[in-house]
Amino acid sequence: MKAVIMYDSAYGNTKSVAEAIAAGLENSRTVPVSQFRSSDVSVGDLLVVGSPINGWRPTEAVTKALDAAGADGLAGVLAAAFDTRVKLFIHGDAAKKVSHGLQKAGATIVAQPMPFYVKGTEGPLLEGEIKRAFSWSHELAASVKALASRKGTS
Ligand SMILES: Cc1cc2nc3c(=O)[nH]c(=O)nc-3n(C[C@H](O)[C@H](O)[C@H](O)COP(=O)(O)O)c2cc1C
Repeated sequence: MKAVIMYDSAYGNTKSVAEAIAAGLENSRTVPVSQFRSSDVSVGDLLVVGSPINGWRPTEAVTKALDAAGADGLAGVLAAAFDTRVKLFIHGDAAKKVSHGLQKAGATIVAQPMPFYVKGTEGPLLEGEIKRAFSWSHELAASVKALASRKGTS
């Protein structure tokens, strides 16, 4: 299994979270959304997608990349989504929508959508968020392992 962490990022915060997730996973790499192709991942690989919330939703680039994968473009791929957001009373959501998009493209979701918090539009990330991203990557690896052992493929 390999892991691809695809992300969009205007100010670098989502990129930093993506890199922390990659650091916690074996055989992993980060891929900016502009370079992502669904052929970057195969059956049994882990695809993690991260987007900033922009106007209550994922960025247009992330939405387009998932649409471009098509109905079965990510069939058999294991996947999870995260977003970065400002801690406001009303902030909307991107990770849930990305997770939905991944499912629509045929991926199997292995974890609940995860938010990470920035202080303001340009960041920085709140204290502890990089550490939390690194820990989350281990939860993702454990979910993938548990799924594989249930299927008898580990
Ligand atoms: C045009 C725009 C719209 C935004 N809309 C929201 C929003 O609806 N909810 C929210 O929590 N944050 C919103 N933000 C803040 C972003 O979530 C924040 O800039 C982002 O997490 C930073 O990530 P990045 O450094 O990877 O670009 C918005 C930022 C921009 C630039």
